[in-house]
Formats: sequence, C-alpha cells, structure tokens
Amino acid sequence: MRDLAIETSGLVKTFGDNRAVDGLDLTVPAGTVYGVLGPNGAGKTTAVKMLATLLRPDGGEARVFGHDVLREPDAVRSRVSLTGQYASVDEEMTGLENLVLLGRLLGHRRAAARDRAMRLLEAFGLTEAAGRQVKTYSGGMRRRLDIAASILNTPDLLFLDEPTTGLDPRSRNQVWDIVRIVVAHGTTVLLTTQYLDEADRLAGRIAVVDHGKVIAEGTPGELKSSVGSGSVHVRLRDAVQRPEAERVLAKELNTQVQLEADPVALTARIAGDDADAGAERASRALAALAASGIVVDDFSLGQPSLDEAFLALTGAPPGEHSLALTDHPATDKNAQEEAA
Ligand SMILES: Nc1ncnc2c1ncn2[C@@H]1O[C@H](COP(=O)(O)OP(=O)(O)OP(=O)(O)O)[C@@H](O)[C@H]1O
Ligand SMILES: [Mg+2]
Repeated sequence: MRDLAIETSGLVKTFGDNRAVDGLDLTVPAGTVYGVLGPNGAGKTTAVKMLATLLRPDGGEARVFGHDVLREPDAVRSRVSLTGQYASVDEEMTGLENLVLLGRLLGHRRAAARDRAMRLLEAFGLTEAAGRQVKTYSGGMRRRLDIAASILNTPDLLFLDEPTTGLDPRSRNQVWDIVRIVVAHGTTVLLTTQYLDEADRLAGRIAVVDHGKVIAEGTPGELKSSVGSGSVHVRLRDAVQRPEAERVLAKELNTQVQLEADPVALTARIAGDDADAGAERASRALAALAASGIVVDDFSLGQPSLDEAFLALTGAPPGEHSLALTDHPATDKNAQEEAA
C-alpha cells in the first residue's frame, strides 16, 4: 500500500522445530533496491518464497503492494517475478527462442514478443549468443538470461535471490548493471545476498538477517556508522613486534584489536561516529606505536566496511557465519535447489 512494496510483521516459517524465519519485520519502499544480507541458512530464501506466495507462512503478516500474501495471492502474483520460478528456461532451446516463447505465454503477439526478446538480449549482452542453445551458455550468461526472462513483463517487484552466487567477478558486474537498469525502469528489487560489497553497491537500504530475524536495518552508511567511525589498519616491519603493537593499540584506542591472517597486520575499530575525533585518536595511536619503538610500514584509517559491520552486529567471526567476504563464492545452494 502507499509507497511500500513489501511490509512484513512478525513473519514466521518453521520446518519441524527449526524456526527458519523467526519473526521477520521488513519494510521495503517501492522503486528501490532493498538488500537482505545474511549468511547461509539465515532464512533469506524461505522469506522470499513466502513473499512470492510459493510458501505458506506459519505466523505473522506479509503484504506486497498492500496485498496480503495469504488472502490475496493472485493480486500478489500479478505484480511480482522471481528468478528461477517464472524463468523456466529450456536448455535445449536458444536464448532467443526461450524469451520469445515466454513472451508468447505472457500473451504478447509474436512480433512484439520477438522485439522485446531482442531488446532484452541486447541490453544483457547476449545478442551474439541469442541463437545458441542455452545448454552451451556459461553460468554468467545463464544467470543473465534468467533475469531477462523474469523481467519480460516488467514486474513491479522482482525477487533476486542471490543472483551472483557462483559467478566470477566480471559476470557479477554484469548482473549488477542489469539490476541497475531494472530499477531505473521503475521495478522494485528485493535482492538477497551473502556478499557485503554487493549490498553496499546496489541497495538503498539493507536488512541484515541472522537466524530468521532482522538484526540491523538501514542505509549502507548507517550500518557502517553504527559500527564506529572507522578502522585503523597497521602493517609492521617485523611480526615479532605484533603482540606489543596489539597492546599499545588496544590501550590507546580502548578497543579490541584484530590480528589479521597476515602476521604483520592488525586492525582496530575506532568507537564513536565522529570522523574527526576518530582521525585524532588514530594519529595518537600512531604516535604511541612510534614511542614504543614499533616500526610501522603502513598505517591507514578507513571507513568501516560492511564486513566489519556484520561482525560487530553478530559478534561472531566470519567463519562461524560462513559469510562470503571475498570473491570466492560459497557452494551454490540456491542453484542446486532449483536444479532439484
Ligand atoms: N523445505 C525445507 N525443509 C526443511 N528445512 C528447510 C527447508 N527450506 C529451508 N530449510 C531450513 O531453513 C533454514 C533457512 O533456510 P534458507 O534456505 O531460507 O536460508 P538462506 O538464507 O536462503 O541460505 P542460503 O544463503 O544458503 O541460500 C535453514 O536452516 C534450512 O535448512
Ligand atoms: Mg537461499
């Protein structure tokens, strides 16, 4: 209703005694990319399936453009699209044939369906592959075709459930460009991701979800500033001095110091949200390191990353959340689910 694409309150889905979605509250403004960021098993796909009317909630409420998912599922379905669900791409057919067929199924005349298909293939960089069977496509091409198929009808709300999991950096960039194009045409996008940088780049607002609940919500900037005004990154000349450097930094910054995998590197968060005060404390810390005879090769003050935000919010190290902090994708569970 009004300008909200999605509104959920206390949404619950249980599988046996596993509360996969455990009182989820989401408010997604229309016309934006909304990021749902969470590790494996956080409940992202389960939430998306309930919002797309593919799965029945066990409790709470969910509305899509003001329509209740349980009481008005047809009204919801008429306005949403989900990659992997409506985009039932046939491997034996070419990319063009797939899009034309889907366009015809959506009620477009042949010429219009072909025209729309050609334009989408071009926009998604698939013109040259248009005449090839989909089974010869790379993972990135296939993902782009899936998204093209899901926006044939320009839905008001598009669910993209981990659209870049398993893709190489170049293909991820192409999908990001597509998401930007889709939103520019007025479609609201609910994007789930395990990639912090992806949410940061694409989403206007982000909900961080853990164990089926929203544990933080805001703009990327707000989430970052809730973590502190910044982090200092220090590289030492000699790894032997790291314990002493850790002690000095902890005392000077009054914060926990993280030891990086690199034996000469340390990182410390600076509390508070005042960037000027943060810079001053950082320079005092540098002076204290020098006064203790510690040789510093590199010292930098950076804005906190979303990685750091997530860790600060959940209080758990990355391993325990299996969050993808690098470009190396985790196992592509969603793709396996779709294939099954
Ligand atoms: N059909 C199902 N039957 C039983 N348990 C399920 C089912 N679907 C999901 N779950 C469980 O619900 C929890 C949430 O799963 P969900 O797939 O929603 O997480 P996710 O955030 O999408 O994770 P991922 O990033 O790995 O895709 C997990 O513990 C999962 O094992
Ligand atoms: Mg999932």
